[in-house]
Amino acid sequence: MTTARRNSGMAPVSAGERLHTPAALNNREPILRVLRRLVEAGQSVLEIGSGTGVHVAYFAREYPEVHWRPSDPDGAMRASVSAWCSDLGKNVDPPLDLDVRAVAWWQGVAGPVDAVLSINMLHVAPPDAFAGLAGGSARLLPPGGLLALYGPFRFNGQCCGTGNKRFDAMLRGQNAAWGLRDLNDIAAQGAAAGLGLERVVDMPAGNHMLLLRRR
Ligand SMILES: C[S@@+](CC[C@H](N)C(=O)[O-])C[C@H]1O[C@@H](n2cnc3c(N)ncnc32)[C@H](O)[C@@H]1O
Repeated sequence: MTTARRNSGMAPVSAGERLHTPAALNNREPILRVLRRLVEAGQSVLEIGSGTGVHVAYFAREYPEVHWRPSDPDGAMRASVSAWCSDLGKNVDPPLDLDVRAVAWWQGVAGPVDAVLSINMLHVAPPDAFAGLAGGSARLLPPGGLLALYGPFRFNGQCCGTGNKRFDAMLRGQNAAWGLRDLNDIAAQGAAAGLGLERVVDMPAGNHMLLLRRR
């Protein structure tokens, strides 16, 4: 576990097999509030970089009309997702082993995907992770399908607020390939993959949700 994640409230804390982070416990309800307006009953949501599983377990319990499909490339995280989801119904799948930087990662996803969701993943992955995420999402989503990104982002090169600026510096100090991603790059790379930036939603604590749609 990195110092940056430990200091940011993103470091998983153990409660038996069910890991959690203070950040996920705080932001799960505001994120779900946005998703409820965008994802309809009967649709399927693929989550990329599910981490501990705190989000997907909460979403599956609170919005059971939707089918939730978690994933993470880290085996310890997938074990935690499974533990969180063990007493939930059939509207949540076992976690998939997906790494969006892997070639043709989308081929590991069978069945319908109406929306793709990724929470706090892009800034702890190298910059090419978004191109991989966007390219795969464009292949999985139907026309009009949603790619929703949550996290802290840069806008015209600038971080919003001193907290995000410090967080960005901490991430880059930890790993030169990490750091907050810029909205302009996401919009350009999304467009190149066939996903148009539709809306930017302000979220608590200097975070945003970026909503892209498959053309
Ligand atoms: C900071 S954690 C966030 C976890 C969770 N979404 C949350 O907000 O609590 C980032 C997660 O992204 C995953 N991740 C990192 N690089 C990835 C990649 N290339 N493809 C998919 N997931 C990745 C990590 O394994 C980790 O679980």
